[in-house]
Amino acid sequence: LHGWGEKHAIPPRVRPPRNGGVAGPRAGGSPYCGPAPPSAARRRTRRRKDGPHVSTSRATPAPPSPETAARLLEHARRARAQAYAPYSRFPVGAALLTEDGSVVPGCNVENASFSLTNCAERVALGSAIAQGRRGFQAIAVVGPEDDVATAPCGSCRQALFEFAPELWVVMPGSDAPRVVPLRELLPGAFDAQRLEEGARP
Ligand code: THU
Repeated sequence: LHGWGEKHAIPPRVRPPRNGGVAGPRAGGSPYCGPAPPSAARRRTRRRKDGPHVSTSRATPAPPSPETAARLLEHARRARAQAYAPYSRFPVGAALLTEDGSVVPGCNVENASFSLTNCAERVALGSAIAQGRRGFQAIAVVGPEDDVATAPCGSCRQALFEFAPELWVVMPGSDAPRVVPLRELLPGAFDAQRLEEGARP
């Protein structure tokens, strides 16, 4: 029998061999679960085929018009009606405006195991990705009150940034909707490019 320490001790961090190793799925020496990272050569090939999302938009797109922003907020309010938030009692609705003008709704979905909660924005994002949509213009977010801004949480900012660094975030404002660039909400964002630069061979 193994003692707890033996079974659960965190394995030491081992530098993967340059040749990617030869034996077994953990040949890369990764201390983490799952298969070893692919070798640099394989990784290059795979990334081209199914790599990180790369935004193809060049210039910063124009912000949504006040009419579009108001319409998007209305979609977010409608989505909020589906929120499952019995624990926080803080329903949130989101509406993601895709490149081609369709709107994908999201609402928060909580769980008795609190940390499993899904935010409205990431529900909308995941739903859009599952529909095969990866280009986005704007997202509207509403919390429990129709006229009080609820800014996306840090995790949602990062999740949205992956697909749409030039996204516009729409929130209720005092008179007109408030429209803010995602980049302003997430300065110095971590992204796939930085990951690629620093990734060990
Ligand atoms: N929530 C969102 O849905 N989006 C955010 O950006 C902020 C927080 C949800 C998560 C949780 O269900 C509730 O609001 C309270 O944190």
